[in-house]
Amino acid sequence: MESAEYHSALAALAWQIELGVDTCIADAPIDRYAVPASLTKPVVSAKAQDAPAPVASARDAADDAVAAARAAAGAAQDLDGLRAALAAFEHCELKRGARNLVFADGVPGARVMIVGEAPGRDEDMEGKPFVGRAGQLLDRMLAAIGLSRADSVYITNVLPWRPPQNRDPKPEEVAMMQPFLRRHIALAAPDVLMIMGNHACQALLGKRGITRLRGDWTRAHDVDALPLFHPAYLLRNPAAKREAWADLLSVQKRLRDG
Ligand code: URA
Repeated sequence: MESAEYHSALAALAWQIELGVDTCIADAPIDRYAVPASLTKPVVSAKAQDAPAPVASARDAADDAVAAARAAAGAAQDLDGLRAALAAFEHCELKRGARNLVFADGVPGARVMIVGEAPGRDEDMEGKPFVGRAGQLLDRMLAAIGLSRADSVYITNVLPWRPPQNRDPKPEEVAMMQPFLRRHIALAAPDVLMIMGNHACQALLGKRGITRLRGDWTRAHDVDALPLFHPAYLLRNPAAKREAWADLLSVQKRLRDG
C-alpha cells in the first residue's frame, strides 16, 4: 500500500488538473539558453519505460478510498457520528475545493428522506442542502402536500461537497461516497425515500432515465422509494411540474396509507 504522502500528492495533482493547471513552473526562472542541450530532455531509462502504467495505481487508490469510506461509514453509530466521519474523510478531492461539508437538513428520523445530487454554490456557502433556487422550489413542493423540513422531512445529497463549477458528479466520486449514503439512510431510517433526479437514481437504484423512472415506486436500500424530477429540472422545464405534482400526491398517499 502506498504512503499517505503519495495519496495526498496524487489528490493535490488531480485537484490542480481539475482547476485547469496545465504547466509546471519552478520557483526560480530557468535560463534555457544556458542549460546544456543534453539536460533539456529527460533521459528515460529502459527500466522506467517498462514500469507499469500509472492507471493501475490510480485504480488501487480508488479501491483504497472506497474501502476507507466503507470502514468509516460502518463505524458510525448515529447521525452525529456519521457527520463526524465524513468531516474527517480525506480521500475525496471535492472536499479540498469546498467551503463546507453539506451533510443534511431537516428532521433526523422523519418519515420522509429526500436525496438530491450535490451541493451548489448556495449550499456550499451555508453548509445545508437545497437552500438555493432549486431548494426554494423544493420547499414549495413539500408545502403543497403538507410537509416541511422544519417538522417532517430530512434532506441530504449523494455528494456532501460541491463539485467545482457545479459539474456533474463523477462515477468514482459517487462510488466513493456511496457507503456514507447507504449508512445515512440506515441511520435515518425513513419510511419513504424521495429520489430527486438522475444522479440520485444512479446512486441509489443503479440506473438513470428519470423521465421513465419517475412516478414508479421501487425499493432502495430496503426503503420504499419514489424517483421524482429534480427541482432544478423543473425550474428549467416548468411543463414537467404536472408530473411532479402527481408524484407528490403519490408520496402523500403512501404516507397516509402507511
Ligand atoms: N441540488 C441538489 O441536488 N442538492 C442541493 O443541495 C442543491 C441543489
